Amino acid sequence: MPNVLGVDHIAIAVKDLDAATQLWKEMGLRVGSREVVEDQGVEVQMMYAGATRIELVFPIREDSPIQAFLDKRGAGLHHLALAVDDCAAATQELVDREVRMINTEPKTGAHQTRIAFVHPKATSGVLTELVEGGEGFGS
Ligand code: CO
Repeated sequence: MPNVLGVDHIAIAVKDLDAATQLWKEMGLRVGSREVVEDQGVEVQMMYAGATRIELVFPIREDSPIQAFLDKRGAGLHHLALAVDDCAAATQELVDREVRMINTEPKTGAHQTRIAFVHPKATSGVLTELVEGGEGFGS
């Protein structure tokens, strides 16, 4: 099974990145860096709850999966990201076990991490991201 090192981050889909950043700042979170991830069609604002990262995710394109999520369900919890030591190996292992994946090969995430999404149908309805090279996990 994948070697899970911890929770890398929890992601929240938002309709207004500046407003959400301000809101969560007022909730006591520390404001981290902001980055566009072209590959995913999103802009990401990293926030910190102590050492735990909360990712505010905003669509930058109409065809972004985040836009579809917002249209369908509105703002809210979007995915759970698990830190793994080897994203390619973890992904291959799940593919071999016929776990339903959104990405059957790793892609590039924020901060040059390697990521792959597991389909929420395979994980109790929670969209789950595998991340290699995340902050605090040996990158
Ligand atoms: Co993520």
